[in-house]
Order: sequence, then structure tokens, then C-alpha cells
Amino acid sequence: MEHKIVLIPGDGIGPEIVREAKKVLDGVCGKYGHTFQYEEALIGGASIDTYGIPLTDDTIAAAKSADAVLMGSVGGDAATSPWYQLEPSKRPEAGLLKIRKELNLFANLRPAYLYSQLKEACPLRPDIIEDGFDLLIMRELTGGLYFGDRKTYEENGVWTAVDTLVYNEQEIRRIAVKGFEIARKRQKKVTSVDKANVLDSSRLWRKVVEEVSADYPDVKLEHMLVDNCAMQLVRDPGQFDVVLTENMFGDILSDEASMITGSIGMLSSASLNETKFGLYEPSHGSAPDIAGQDKANPIATILSAAMMLRYSLDLDQEADAVEQAVQNVLSQGYRTVDIMSEGCTCVGTREMGELIVKNLLAQA
Ligand code: IPM
Ligand code: MG
Repeated sequence: MEHKIVLIPGDGIGPEIVREAKKVLDGVCGKYGHTFQYEEALIGGASIDTYGIPLTDDTIAAAKSADAVLMGSVGGDAATSPWYQLEPSKRPEAGLLKIRKELNLFANLRPAYLYSQLKEACPLRPDIIEDGFDLLIMRELTGGLYFGDRKTYEENGVWTAVDTLVYNEQEIRRIAVKGFEIARKRQKKVTSVDKANVLDSSRLWRKVVEEVSADYPDVKLEHMLVDNCAMQLVRDPGQFDVVLTENMFGDILSDEASMITGSIGMLSSASLNETKFGLYEPSHGSAPDIAGQDKANPIATILSAAMMLRYSLDLDQEADAVEQAVQNVLSQGYRTVDIMSEGCTCVGTREMGELIVKNLLAQA
């Protein structure tokens, strides 16, 4: 099958992790006889350096013409990078928010799974993770606080800043439907996370999620306040299946969830709209401190490429094979530095990518 994929390496470690994920995709093509046509595009600081803005119309057009987008990471060191001398709307992260909005990628899936091989890298006590965990954060990605009106102003010598958190029922309904649909394919449980004891937007969220749940009698629904959820994630992560939540809560909880898997370097993500199109990127950031040093863990990006095969290209068997190759390489004891533990072999970004490709090709 022929597919068009746009690669957007981005900043920091982005180019090296996307390079390794592309090798894996090439391996998939060779093994299964597919043809992927690639186009590269810029975002974030890389785009600022070339065009003066973090996202151009050309990048948006390229993404729209593709079946899927595989992205690296966006942003630099805010303390030292000149990108952060620019006004906020021209900084690297603005490009990321804009591409999500332009492509209407309202559903962000962030799975957090504890690999048995990485139990030692998990910061939680062994008795807490005895039975492992396998959860998915379904984060609303194009509404809420990150997209509401904001301003900073001075009045009578006092500076004030305002951000607004807005959700309408349609935005809530469509992400809730995605959450229940995916729960149906998993353990059939949705934990909807909000702050309904304080926020109006959360009270509407809860009401709409309740309404949607009526169409999914086979899926169990529970509501949880976000502060409690932050606590429950480290107390008993095994209780969760699908965590359905709004933009900012999902941003925060997904970082927490990734940490308890042992490394944020393992976590993939998919951002989807109403169609099959999706943008796939690791959940982690651009790690400018280790960029270009062959230290970054490419697994999150490789697993994001696997999600892309599954959700946008309908290549389930190929996605399974990539995930299996990652498992095998971990079982053989290879680790990047972020997940290193005693007795294992520490490898760099490039070698990890190559080991995964080799494993993929060796599978029956
Ligand atoms: C993420 C990131 C972004 C977000 C930032 C860089 C704008 O933290 O993808 O989680 O908050 O969405
Ligand atoms: Mg984040």
C-alpha cells in the first residue's frame, strides 16, 4: 500500500529520534511491501530560524495533504534560547498549539504502560506495581485554558494576567465519544477527570460525559476530581483504564503517568481528528540539554510511529510487529541511558533504533 507521511522533526532531540523512527518505518515497508512517500516540514524553533515564525502555511498544507504526520519535539531552553526573546505568540510552542488547532486534532491519546522489563526503572514501590498497569489518557487538545482568550495588563500600577477556560458541550461530547469508543476496545472503563467541585466548565463536562455514557452501557463510568486523580495515579495506577479529561488536566496528568512507567522516553501519543488522519509524537519534550549527543531514547517516537500504522494507515499487524520488536530489544537487555539499570547494556539513540529495525526484520 502507498501512503504519504509528513515528517516534522522539530527541535532539540527531535531530528535524531524521528530519524530512528523513519528507519523503523522503512523496515516496515521492506518487510511488508508497502511504499511510504515522505515529505519533511518544519515547526517550532527550526521554523523560526528559517522563516521567522513557528509554523508556516506550507507546513500546514503539507500536513493536510498527508495520511499522517510523525513529529519529533518542539521548543528549546527558555533560559538561553533566543526563541524565547520573541513575543509568546511567535515562540516554538505556539507552532505546536497552532498545528493542533489547524488540523482540528481534538483527541490526544497518551498510553502509559508498565513494561515488565522496566519495572526496576519505575519509581513506585514494588507492591504498588505488582500487577502492572496499562492506562490511556484521553486528553482534549484544542479547547480549554490553552486556547481561551488571554491578556496581561497594568491598571493603577498593578499587573494582572487573565486566562480563560472555555468548553462548549459539542467539544466535550466529541472527546467523550472518543473516550468511550476506545474504552470499548480496552478494559471498558472510563474515569472522567474534572474539578466539578469548583469549576463551571467541569460541571458541564460531567453532565455531558454522563449523557454520552448512556450510549455505552457496556462501559463503566466513574468521575474523579483531578487532585484526587493525581494522587491515585501514584497510589494505585492499576485501577485506571481510560482517563478522559480536559486539556490542561491531561497535560499535567500525562506527564505524571509517563513518569511512573519508568521513563518519559517510552511514551507515545496520537492526536486525532474526526477522520483517520492523525499527528503522532512522543509525549516527552525536546530535551535540548542532550540534543545531538546520541543519548535520547527513540522508543517513544518509534511507538508513536506504531500508533500511526494502527490508527491512520490501518496496518495493525505492522504496528504489532513494531511494538513486539521494542519488547524484544528490551528483553534482550538493551537500554538507553534514561531507562538504564544494572546488568543491562547501555546504547545510544542510533543503536537503539538499529536494534529495533533488526528485530523487526528478524520476526517470522
Ligand atoms: C505537551 C506539551 C505542550 C502542551 C506544550 C509544549 C505547549 O507540554 O504536548 O504536553 O502543553 O500541550
Ligand atoms: Mg505537556
